[in-house]
Amino acid sequence: MLVNEAQQTVIKTTDLSVYYGEKQALKQIHMDIERNSVTAFIGPSGCGKSTFLRSLNRMNELIPNCRVEGSIQIDGIEVNTDSVPIEGLRKTVGMVFQRANPFFKSIYENIAFAPRFHGMKNKGDLDHLVEQSLRKAALWDEVKDRLHDSALALSGGQQQRLCIARTIATDPAVLLLDEPASALDPISTLKIEELIVELKDEYTIVIVTHNLHQAARISNQTAFFLMGELVEMGNTSNLFTSPQDKRTEDYISGKFG
Ligand SMILES: Nc1ncnc2c1ncn2[C@@H]1O[C@H](COP(=O)(O)OP(=O)(O)O)[C@@H](O)[C@H]1O
Ligand SMILES: [Mg+2]
Repeated sequence: MLVNEAQQTVIKTTDLSVYYGEKQALKQIHMDIERNSVTAFIGPSGCGKSTFLRSLNRMNELIPNCRVEGSIQIDGIEVNTDSVPIEGLRKTVGMVFQRANPFFKSIYENIAFAPRFHGMKNKGDLDHLVEQSLRKAALWDEVKDRLHDSALALSGGQQQRLCIARTIATDPAVLLLDEPASALDPISTLKIEELIVELKDEYTIVIVTHNLHQAARISNQTAFFLMGELVEMGNTSNLFTSPQDKRTEDYISGKFG
């Protein structure tokens, strides 16, 4: 392992543009994201934050008429190309959405399903993976006595942590979180925030949030998007205390949103 691995760029986009039909939703985005950091995406609704996230694991391919141009490198490998198998990419770059979407299965099966599908058959191995994933997602203590109950019986915040556990179970390098706490109460939100800060020791995390305080609390880097442009990106405390661009300053001071 390299001594300076912590400083390495994991995600690098160059000239990334995304179109829905004729409409350009992202305009030539250049971005570098470092390993074991939390990067927050902020900006008003409709400015392209989710579109950017979905580009990183090629989820936009599921949207008819969506076209992604430019380069996306993950760990130095170009992934915005058909020659990279999508299954592997989606394991390496995992994603969690705004609304928790557990499978209609037990807590255990939510986590064991994909690894079993990919060939892990041994019950001991699966049990171990389920426990490890739930521990990493700070959910184990709350569910260890009811692993075979339905996931849908969990609270919204627990379901969201289960979705994070399910993503972790496939051993990703990058976790993409699209407004993961916006449907949750303040206490569940706090748990998710604490979890994100813990998880960055092991993963590289990108989180979209409409909550500027949340971005300031948990992220190392913040990127401000506006109408498909990346206006400014930098160290979170610098961006919030001395933004370089007038538009960033207006946004973070609440002049528009
Ligand atoms: N599936 C889609 N089809 C067509 N246009 C879309 C689709 N998803 C997003 N857009 C458009 O792309 C732009 C960026 O949207 P989005 O990435 O969802 O922004 P954000 O996440 O910042 O709210 C918006 O103008 C939105 O209307
Ligand atoms: Mg969005």
